[in-house]
Amino acid sequence: MSEERRPVGRSVLFIGHAAEPNDVANSVLSRFGFQPAELVQSLATAVTRLREKHFDLVVLSLEGLGPVELTLVEREIRQSSSLIIGTASASHPDLLLSALRAGIHEFVAAPIEAKSFGVAVDRLVRRMSSPTALAGTTIAIYSAKGGLGTTTIAVNLAAAIAKSQPAKRVALADYVVVGGDVRVMLDLKPAYDIGDLVMKVDRIDGDLLYSLLSQGPSGVWTLPSSDKPEVLDLIDANAAATIISQLRGYFGYVVVDTEHYLSERTLAALDAADRIVLVTQLSVTALRSTQRSLQLFERLGYAREKVSVIVNRTDADSALSVRDAESVLGRPILWRLPNDFSDCSEATTKGVPVLEFAPDSPLSRSFLNLAAKLVGTGTETGTPDMMAAVTATGPAPASPNGNGHDNSSSNGNSADANSRIGRMFRLGRR
Ligand SMILES: Nc1ncnc2c1ncn2[C@@H]1O[C@H](COP(=O)(O)OP(=O)(O)O)[C@@H](O)[C@H]1O
Ligand SMILES: [Mg+2]
Repeated sequence: MSEERRPVGRSVLFIGHAAEPNDVANSVLSRFGFQPAELVQSLATAVTRLREKHFDLVVLSLEGLGPVELTLVEREIRQSSSLIIGTASASHPDLLLSALRAGIHEFVAAPIEAKSFGVAVDRLVRRMSSPTALAGTTIAIYSAKGGLGTTTIAVNLAAAIAKSQPAKRVALADYVVVGGDVRVMLDLKPAYDIGDLVMKVDRIDGDLLYSLLSQGPSGVWTLPSSDKPEVLDLIDANAAATIISQLRGYFGYVVVDTEHYLSERTLAALDAADRIVLVTQLSVTALRSTQRSLQLFERLGYAREKVSVIVNRTDADSALSVRDAESVLGRPILWRLPNDFSDCSEATTKGVPVLEFAPDSPLSRSFLNLAAKLVGTGTETGTPDMMAAVTATGPAPASPNGNGHDNSSSNGNSADANSRIGRMFRLGRR
């Protein structure tokens, strides 16, 4: 492994008695390519030293750390992007939780004992070398028009995946970053939301994610939207992409509910996704908007198999059929979800997914089958072969937009001229 070849060893800072007996700690650390530790006596000295020099790892004692010290740890030590091991002779849950929130990565009992310390260091070193080891499958749910069922599908698909694949962790991120409906649909009263996460975007790791995400119904880990308008500006394309890439490092599946507006942020989420579920309904206006989205995705260079169209509320009164939709859109419809107004509205009122409110309803069964179609049934380990399912459902014409360009699509977006969207529409008009 590359660790052995590092020309200069990794650096470690011990604070006070935290890593005693120091010779045991040093000998474990040397196995992982660390230089002998530098020792400072107090947290304050450590903070000064960390301003002068980066250390890959800091070992500090959790004993006697009050809120002030924990804030110092979070602000100064975490900021310096060091990994942190906290030690204490006895662990009690309150201490551990506040230490986790302050960003301590591993807890080890003091005095240090080679075996457990080695296990903790091993985990940290692996984290250093592969921050996104898991690379979970990311599914973005999108529709250019509101009201078609995007959030309903995001919430229930996440729940269905969690239900069918209990061995995998599922995250649900509300990328309608201010005032999104996920928290309403799941009746969450979260202590933290995407606004808190974006403040720490440059130092996200598993512990921080798990401490900020809310565990909602069906065991789905939810990143709710914020209610502070200023968060809109904070979550730009970069932050949006970073949050998704961090989530996929720690979750087997990441479902993202997106805005009905192609902001740079939405685009970043769609770019990052392995799959886009494009939601439509059997109405002229919905299909027109879906058609425009598909043209846009084509110009963006998204692979055909990346985008799956789903028709929601199919048995609602409609003059159009799924076949009409396929011919208008020039591609097969991956899935159709039945209309079930009463279960949907009652589930929302109760703040649970339809899947929990009415597990045996046709709509819930349809969500489970959709999950199986998108991500497999849980027996496989890697990304399942759902592309085959998509292409097998119908012909794949060379171009979905045989009816010419639709320049009206540029109206609805206010991206500035230099943004990707601006450039793209100039391209489209050529
Ligand atoms: N399959 C369905 N059957 C009946 N009503 C549905 C269905 N899917 C969504 N709805 C309802 O449609 C409305 C809009 O859904 P929502 O998920 O909020 O859409 P979006 O996020 O696209 O704006 C909600 O009242 C929701 O309960
Ligand atoms: Mg919505």
